[in-house]
Amino acid sequence: MSQRTLVLLKPDAVRRGLVGEIIGRIESKAGWTLRALELRDLDRATLEQHYAEHEGRPFYEPLMEFMASGPSVALVVEGERVIEGVRALAGPTDPIAAAPGSIRGDFGTIVRENLIHASDSEESAERELKIFFPDFS
Ligand code: RTP
Ligand code: MG
Repeated sequence: MSQRTLVLLKPDAVRRGLVGEIIGRIESKAGWTLRALELRDLDRATLEQHYAEHEGRPFYEPLMEFMASGPSVALVVEGERVIEGVRALAGPTDPIAAAPGSIRGDFGTIVRENLIHASDSEESAERELKIFFPDFS
């Protein structure tokens, strides 16, 4: 089942020069293709929409500040079961708990600065793709 997912390489990934490494892992999966890719500063309005589900949680404001601390790379990736697949490549939210071999497990230590976002369901992908790539069809 071919799908599209919204991926963000967060400001820590860009600052640390890990964009090529992370995109390389995604591109290496058989049959997955990049359909859009852009380095961009995420403004408050975009971040509020994207992380609306977390509003009011204790980590929300520090998360918003971190996500606005430098440019991110926004991507659309297409391919077989890519929604579940990029989440598997990323690993769980806490990089210390994430297995070695996953992106967060290999490169992260701090929960907030966990390098990558990927849509977590078909519904999330549809919602997030509209936020970040409204003209993409
Ligand atoms: P994401 O939405 O960014 O793909 O990450 P996720 O699904 O694995 O995690 P989620 O629960 O949706 O949390 C969104 C992002 O908020 C930061 N966070 N910080 N306790 C904390 O300090 C905390 N918890 C979450 C992380 O950057 C997480 O990816
Ligand atoms: Mg999430």
